[in-house]
Amino acid sequence: PRPRVVMSVRSSNTVSAAPILIKLQRDCATPLPVLRHVADAMAADMRAGLEVDGGSDLKMILSYVDALPTGNEKGLFYALDLGGTNFRVLRVQLGGKDERVVETEFEQVSIPQELMFGTSEELFDFIASGLEKFAQKEAGNFCLPKGRTRELGFTFSFPVKQTSIDSGILIKWTKGFAVSGTAGKDVVACLNEAMKRQGLNMRVSALVNDTVGTLAGARYWDDDVMVAVILGTGTNACYVERIDAIPKLHGPNSKSGRTIVNTEWGAFSNGLPLTEFDIEMDAESINPGEQIFEKTISGMYLGEIVRRVLLKMAEDARLFGDCDPEKLRMPFSLRTPDICAMQQDSSKDFEVVGSILHDVTGVSSDLIARKIVVDVCDTIAKRGGRLAGAGIVGILQKMEDDSRGLVFGKRTVVAMDGGLYEHYPQYRSYLQDAVTELLGPEISKNIVIEHSKDGSGIGAALLAATNSMYQH
Ligand code: GLC
Repeated sequence: PRPRVVMSVRSSNTVSAAPILIKLQRDCATPLPVLRHVADAMAADMRAGLEVDGGSDLKMILSYVDALPTGNEKGLFYALDLGGTNFRVLRVQLGGKDERVVETEFEQVSIPQELMFGTSEELFDFIASGLEKFAQKEAGNFCLPKGRTRELGFTFSFPVKQTSIDSGILIKWTKGFAVSGTAGKDVVACLNEAMKRQGLNMRVSALVNDTVGTLAGARYWDDDVMVAVILGTGTNACYVERIDAIPKLHGPNSKSGRTIVNTEWGAFSNGLPLTEFDIEMDAESINPGEQIFEKTISGMYLGEIVRRVLLKMAEDARLFGDCDPEKLRMPFSLRTPDICAMQQDSSKDFEVVGSILHDVTGVSSDLIARKIVVDVCDTIAKRGGRLAGAGIVGILQKMEDDSRGLVFGKRTVVAMDGGLYEHYPQYRSYLQDAVTELLGPEISKNIVIEHSKDGSGIGAALLAATNSMYQH
C-alpha cells in the first residue's frame, strides 16, 4: 500500500535536518576552481603514472592495443564481458568494410552473490560453463567450421597488469569483488584452464579492460574517438596516447606509434571535496583508502552515500519523525537507481519519493522530509557528475598540451558507457555542464560526449579479430 502523505505536523523535526543539508552542500560544492584543480591534478597524475610504474595513484596501464579497428575485420568471433554483477557473452559475425556487423547474439548471466566472495576456480568455472552453453548454440551461418578454435575477446573490467595483448595479471579486485586466489595470477590462464575443464575449444585472443573495449568499439564507427569513459558500477577512462609520451615503456615501438592507455582513474584522489560520509564509507569498505574517485562518482556508491546522510538526518534530526530507521542502517540498502528514481519524481507531493523511501528503507515521510531527501540525492549526483566532467577535461587537457592543438581544435569524441551515465539524466547534465564550464563554449563545441551503448563487447570481438591466430 502506498504510504499516506502526512502533511507536516512534524516540521520541527525536519527543520533541524536543514543544517545537515546545508553543511553537506557546502562540503560537496564543486565551483569552477575546484573543478579546475581536479582537472589539472588528473593531468599531472597521468604524466607521473606514465613516467614510471607506481609513479602516481593512476596506474596508466599499457593495453598492448596499438592497432585500432579499421572496419576490415572479418569472421566469427566471441566476446566475454566480466566486470560487475553480470557477465555477458556475445557472438558476432564481422563482414568487413561494407557489411560491418552482420549478425550478433548475446546472453547475460547474473553472477550469484556467493561467487563474488568465493574462490577463483569457482568463479571461472561458472563463467566457462556459461560460455560453453552459449557456444553450443551456434547454428546455421552463424557457425565455425568443425574443429576450428573459437576466438574470444575477453573484457575483464578490473585493474590488470597486462603482459601482452592476451595475458595480464590481476592487480586487485574492485567494485565489491573479493574472490580469493586470483590477485597476482594471469586471468587469461585462469579462464583458459576453466574452459579446458569444460572441454570448450576456445582461446582468448585479446584481453581488454571495458574502457579499452568501448574505445575500440566506438572507433570502429568513428575515427574521431580518442577517449572512452565508463560510468557504471565502477568508473574508469582510457585514451589514445603517443608511444613517445610514455617514458616507462621500454621495448619495441608499435607500428602506429600510438597505443591505448588504461588510466584506472578510479584510484585518483587528489583534491576531491569529500565529506564525513565519504570518509566513513571508505573506512568501512572492503578496500579502505583505495578507489576514492570511484567511491565519489560511481554507481556502486552514490546511493550508499545518500543512505549515510539520511541515516544521520533520521538519527540526529528525526527527519522521519518517530519511525525507527532500522532498514536505513543496512549498508547499501539504498541503491543508486533508487536515488535516481527519486530525483525523477515530478508529482506535487513527491509521492514516488515517499513510496521508494517506504519500500526501500521502511520509513514514512512528510513533504518537507521528501524535499530534503531529493536535495540530498541532487547534491551527491551533482558532485559526482561534475567531478566526472572535470576528470574528462583533465585527460583532454593532457592530450592537448602534448599535441598542441590536435584535440581542442577539431572534433574529438569521448565514447561513454555505463548504467549511471545511461540512466541518470541529472548526472549526465551535471557532467556536461562541468565540461562546458571548464573548456568554455567555443572549445566544448568540438568535444562530443557520445553514448556508445554496449560498445565494449563488439570492441573486444574486434580486437580478438585483429589479434586472431588465423589472420595471417
Ligand atoms: C573499476 C575497475 C576498472 C573498470 C571500471 C569500470 O574501476 O578497476 O578496471 O574499468 O571499474 O568498470
